Amino acid sequence: MASTKPQKKFRKKILCIGAGYVGGPTMAMIALKCPDYIVTVVDINEDKINSWNSGKLPIFEPGLDEIVRKTRGKNLFFRTDIEQQIRDNDIIFVSVNTPTKTFGSGAGYAADLQFVEKTARLILENSTSPKIVIEKSTLPVKTALAMERILMSGKGRVKFEVLSNPEFMAEGSAIKDLENPDRVLIGSRETAGGIAARRLLVDIYARWVDTGKIITSNIWSSELSKLVANAFLAQRVSSINSISALCEKTDADISEVAKAVGTDSRIGGKFLVAGVGFGGSCFRKDILNLVYLCRFYGLQEVADYWESVVKINEYQQERFIINILGKMFNTLAGKKICVLGFAFKANTGDTRESPAIYITHRLLAECAEVVISDPKALENAAIVMADTTGKLSYEENPYEAVKGCHAIAILTEWSLYKELDYKKIFRAMAKPAFIFDGRNIIDHEKCYKIGFNVYPVGKPALSHFESRV
Ligand SMILES: NC(=O)c1ccc[n+]([C@@H]2O[C@H](COP(=O)([O-])OP(=O)(O)OC[C@H]3O[C@@H](n4cnc5c(N)ncnc54)[C@H](O)[C@@H]3O)[C@@H](O)[C@H]2O)c1
Repeated sequence: MASTKPQKKFRKKILCIGAGYVGGPTMAMIALKCPDYIVTVVDINEDKINSWNSGKLPIFEPGLDEIVRKTRGKNLFFRTDIEQQIRDNDIIFVSVNTPTKTFGSGAGYAADLQFVEKTARLILENSTSPKIVIEKSTLPVKTALAMERILMSGKGRVKFEVLSNPEFMAEGSAIKDLENPDRVLIGSRETAGGIAARRLLVDIYARWVDTGKIITSNIWSSELSKLVANAFLAQRVSSINSISALCEKTDADISEVAKAVGTDSRIGGKFLVAGVGFGGSCFRKDILNLVYLCRFYGLQEVADYWESVVKINEYQQERFIINILGKMFNTLAGKKICVLGFAFKANTGDTRESPAIYITHRLLAECAEVVISDPKALENAAIVMADTTGKLSYEENPYEAVKGCHAIAILTEWSLYKELDYKKIFRAMAKPAFIFDGRNIIDHEKCYKIGFNVYPVGKPALSHFESRV
């Protein structure tokens, strides 16, 4: 276990409140790139901090272990003494969770800001010197105003500057994204104090990010841009998924359509991959938050437009289930289905809002027996499915997981699923054997020839029951 004691004098001290998927990797990157800064990450969750200080980090992210190993105990520290750290640090990132509100006004849409507000109050209570407070969490536009009001509500002896610095990294490629971001966005008040604070944060990122990629803006633009970026990304996924439904009706192939459309330089090819829908902790909550904000400001049509992105995502998941049910003779009762992949995307163990959650619940509701397999997400899957009733089991080894199964549903695009020995898998399964490739990642023709009935998303089915046109 790494020492948690700072060892020498450092030029600057940085604190991050919230040691989650964002706080941990972003601060590890700052510590790596700024060896003369001391970076401390605190969290109310003691187990998480213990895990950050152990050999098994609380999150899986390619490349993260190596960076933490290089910096932890030198200029990167994970601790639980939040109040003391607030007193000791003058640059404070706030990277706490901002889930969708589940109660009261705005439930199901608005962001639950209680963790952010508690953090602001804690900063106020424990500050005796001027602080720069940086919103790293994704927040509704105008949250900085609430932050400022809380921070300024003290006796006025301590000066605070609030900045917005939303994080654009994606899980699964966080380290790559943090090392070489498309842009870093820093918003501030357009006052002398705000601009000075902004300059200080620019200097930190400029240690490794090309200054041309560091965008500064007014604080409201910065807050809003993060919600809008996520909404645009999710919208592309829902757009291509909506067309995948049309492809299945017309024998067009969604991959060919996406290629033809995406090679138009005005459109671009990224995020045009059809599948079972987007997941993750951010897209859904951020769009719903955007919808809430639009309604709050009386922009009903704008709200409806963005809400449809979420509706198509739900439709795509339900469509996947209806397809399984229909192709498997309208009954799943007593049939064994292997869910290959439970993480919301490849290269992460994160299962938050994973389409696999909804799909597994629906399979169980049809009285199917479900075996979940995933190389990194089984622990989280077991937590998220803990209260579920029905026949559910977990098996990391895909060859064991498929034994006796009637069907496989591929729900995460783990590259290892491309490499599996599908002949061996076919032999181990009940017949007729079905594959529903919710990520379009396996060789469909090859699996069809092995004997599987193959149902991709947005592509003609390869079925031994239906004549191929
Ligand atoms: N996960 C992503 O890919 C991603 C990407 C960009 C932005 N974001 C945004 O960043 C924010 C954090 O997301 P995350 O995925 O890291 O969440 P997370 O749940 O993994 O981490 C948040 C952490 O904050 C801690 N926390 C909550 N209240 C606290 C308090 N008062 N004091 C100390 N710690 C506290 C929690 O214990 C938790 O460990 C969210 O607003 C999210 O929308 C997330």
